[in-house]
Amino acid sequence: MVTDPTYNAAAPMATAIHVRDLCFAYHTKPALHDVTLDIPARQITAFIGPSGCGKSTLLRRPDIDLQELRRRVGMVFQKYNPFKKSIYENVVFSLRLGGMRKRAALDELAEAALRSAALWDEVKDRLHTSALGLSGGQQQRLCIARAIANQPDILLMDEPCAALDPTATLKIEELLHQLKQHYTIIIVTHNMAQATRCADLTAFMYLGKLIESGPTMHIFTTPNNPQTLAYISGSFG
Ligand SMILES: Nc1ncnc2c1ncn2[C@@H]1O[C@H](COP(=O)(O)OP(=O)(O)O)[C@@H](O)[C@H]1O
Ligand SMILES: [Mg+2]
Repeated sequence: MVTDPTYNAAAPMATAIHVRDLCFAYHTKPALHDVTLDIPARQITAFIGPSGCGKSTLLRRPDIDLQELRRRVGMVFQKYNPFKKSIYENVVFSLRLGGMRKRAALDELAEAALRSAALWDEVKDRLHTSALGLSGGQQQRLCIARAIANQPDILLMDEPCAALDPTATLKIEELLHQLKQHYTIIIVTHNMAQATRCADLTAFMYLGKLIESGPTMHIFTTPNNPQTLAYISGSFG
């Protein structure tokens, strides 16, 4: 998976990520076979498919060693994982790592990231208390704030709502609609209703292969492939 060096944030349907003939094996066990697709910029692309089909492997594949490229990608996981630090220190963590020291700049960027993650109003009076005192949904939004504080272009989210209740899930889904104005979002979800609510495009994977991808409405109403139809109609998974 490569981020596109010609990526132009101003062109809404530009391709943010080209995936070409991507294969991957864990030792000798193949996990991805010849995956090829384009991920459009500033859209939400959902990956669906049964457990073990390779969705997480695909998300984690950007073997991005260069610091600058890595900065372009923010990751959010199913098990929200704030550091055992204050809310504020979680958000500014990567900024500090990047060498930013000026308190005013850190404060400003922390507020902007928390606002973007729809968390500011809930935490502005307790920024210096432990992140672990937040609810699960708040902790996940904090992880989103931490990811976007680093100003990535792309947000990769691996089942970000799987550990959350329906209310917290809805809040994250609303947030995704806001965030897609600024970020290319890729979300893995087990929840097909979530894909239909959130995703512009949906990609169905099975046994390490990309079976079919396209506009979400198309995938969920008139898929081309019988395996996609079987999956979305609940025959397996
Ligand atoms: N760290 C690992 N080592 C060995 N095999 C793995 C590892 N992670 C995943 N796999 C295997 O690779 C395949 C794809 O897994 P994964 O990408 O986690 O699927 P999904 O996210 O769709 O559930 C599965 O067969 C899984 O058992
Ligand atoms: Mg997974």
